[in-house]
Amino acid sequence: MTTTETDQEPSSTAAPGPPRPRAAITQPTLRQDAWWVGPIITVTVLVGFTVYGIWAAFRNGNYFAKPYLSPFYSPCLTDKCVDGGATPHILGGWWTWSPAILILVFPLGFRVTCYYYRRAYYRSFWWAPPACAVPDARKGYTGETRIPLILQNIHRYFFYFATIFAALLTYDAVLAFIFPGGRFGIGVGTGVLLVNAVAIWLYTLSCHSCRHLCGGGLRQLSRAPVRYQVWRRLSVLNRNHLKFAWASLLWIMVTDFYIWLVAAGHLHDYHWIA
Ligand code: FES
Repeated sequence: MTTTETDQEPSSTAAPGPPRPRAAITQPTLRQDAWWVGPIITVTVLVGFTVYGIWAAFRNGNYFAKPYLSPFYSPCLTDKCVDGGATPHILGGWWTWSPAILILVFPLGFRVTCYYYRRAYYRSFWWAPPACAVPDARKGYTGETRIPLILQNIHRYFFYFATIFAALLTYDAVLAFIFPGGRFGIGVGTGVLLVNAVAIWLYTLSCHSCRHLCGGGLRQLSRAPVRYQVWRRLSVLNRNHLKFAWASLLWIMVTDFYIWLVAAGHLHDYHWIA
């Protein structure tokens, strides 16, 4: 079959014509597949995490089973997560509310404003739109062009705090090797906290803001070889940001739950001490 001139792609130099009107389709969508499964799973997981997070943040106890500290309560701000007062803590014993209230605003702000999570909850909770080729549930959706959604742009600033928290969780993972008496050891909890630190770093470093920070704003990447190499590697992580977002979210729950089980005496932490 020969290709006629009208079948060919328009030349890139051709002036764009007026936008074509949408096809006159009466059905809400022509999609036949189960496009609604994705939004339902997202709602289920996010609601589940929210319920768990509220319980974990407000229980204000059993968040430290030496040498393990729950990520919901890191950094250690009170004297409930130190052994014999050896570790400095900011709030001491006078703060009686849950310290997680003070801590979680930063990791939570980072997650809520994350580009990936935004897409996920706009689609699943607000149906704006719920899926590709499925129309918005509401007519008045204006995107992130005005208050309050324009505030999502503070994500890049939350990224700076997120790197601090990733470093703190790494520090907690290192402390998880130091058992009572200052002896080196490895327990199930050590592995749990290590995986948590790795998952948080993968999520943080694959952030779109991080990628832009390293490789954005340059006219020629070739003139900044170090930044180019960093950007290339971060781009690989960035392609998997969705996976890291879910994995790190679920593993935070696993980590906190494990430490709660051990601290509350419901579970024995198997470990080896040198
Ligand atoms: S885009 Fe998801 S954490 Fe930055």
